Amino acid sequence: MEKKNIDWGNLSFQYTRTDYRFVAHYKDGKWDDGEIITDSDVVLSECACVFQYAQTCFEGLKAYTTEDGRIVCFRPDLNAERMRDTCIRLHMPPFPEDKFVEAVKAVVKANAAWVPPFGSGATLYIRPFLMGTNPVIGVQPATEYEFRILVTPVGPYFKGGVKPISIRVSDYDRAAPQGTGHIKAGLNYAMSLYNIMDAHACGYDENMYLDPKTRTTVEETGGANFIFITKDGKLVTPKSESILPSITRRSLMVVAEKYLNMPVEHRPVLLSELEDFAECGLCGTAAVISPVGKVNDHGKEIAFPSGMNDMGPYTKKLYETLTGIQMGRIEAPEGWIVEIC
Ligand code: PLP
Ligand code: COI
Repeated sequence: MEKKNIDWGNLSFQYTRTDYRFVAHYKDGKWDDGEIITDSDVVLSECACVFQYAQTCFEGLKAYTTEDGRIVCFRPDLNAERMRDTCIRLHMPPFPEDKFVEAVKAVVKANAAWVPPFGSGATLYIRPFLMGTNPVIGVQPATEYEFRILVTPVGPYFKGGVKPISIRVSDYDRAAPQGTGHIKAGLNYAMSLYNIMDAHACGYDENMYLDPKTRTTVEETGGANFIFITKDGKLVTPKSESILPSITRRSLMVVAEKYLNMPVEHRPVLLSELEDFAECGLCGTAAVISPVGKVNDHGKEIAFPSGMNDMGPYTKKLYETLTGIQMGRIEAPEGWIVEIC
């Protein structure tokens, strides 16, 4: 199979229209089997529930080319499970989890020419999404739904690649997730758009959200969970009912403990503790692990000593082990890597 003629090394995190997408429909109380199609346009009634009441959610995962030329993806069953939980919270019918994984495999396989080659620094981002499609005018859930998966080759999420970013403590909340459980829905992100643009205008790459009730503990950023490293090499990561349960973060907790012999603490993290940490990073599918150099808390700058110019040593070990597992260089725990072709 011939790869597309793309300058893989210079891709950023942007949408490129690829050849195929997966689409399935829910009607009369059941999902059809779905199919791979070429049309990238979605045409819906002006009164579709997704437009009026934002009844939509999404997931994100990646496909990778391994050194020996296979195409694989990372823990898609956990995306299927998380999307099920989000759907339940938004009163939408989940797409069956086993079929979700099969659909991911089918759409990546169909777009194999778009999967960036090993070592290019790019990956194929996979975006499953689900929305209410029939017209509703009273506030109520739809009765018809569409589930789609698009794929697009991407480069690093933050402009500097693996260069440390700077973030600020936000005065805004990240909207809906707090107190509503772990959901990954379009509306949550729409409510964060003003704040992310304001952060950029003020010279920051991201916002650090605090728990909305006490504003004393660290939650997450707009699109990634936090990891911290203590001066004696422990991995600390915030525990909260209102942040997205990042698959990358859950995987890193295993990688730290089982591969790197690092103690792991999953617990509430106080904003006032930040200055005690040696390293800080953001983790997620898009972010992978992006080191954080500085956090600005209303004018007070907290710098992480080992990660100002480059990734700190522990963050780097976590990054290399995780990406090594994802790209087939390091043996993965059972079930983490799903082979596509
Ligand atoms: N938190 C938020 C708000 C996100 O949007 C994401 C991205 O999916 C994450 C965390 C990281 O989750 P994951 O590692 O499953 O991609
Ligand atoms: C992901 O990492 O998959 C996300 O959905 C984060 C988003 C901000 C791109």
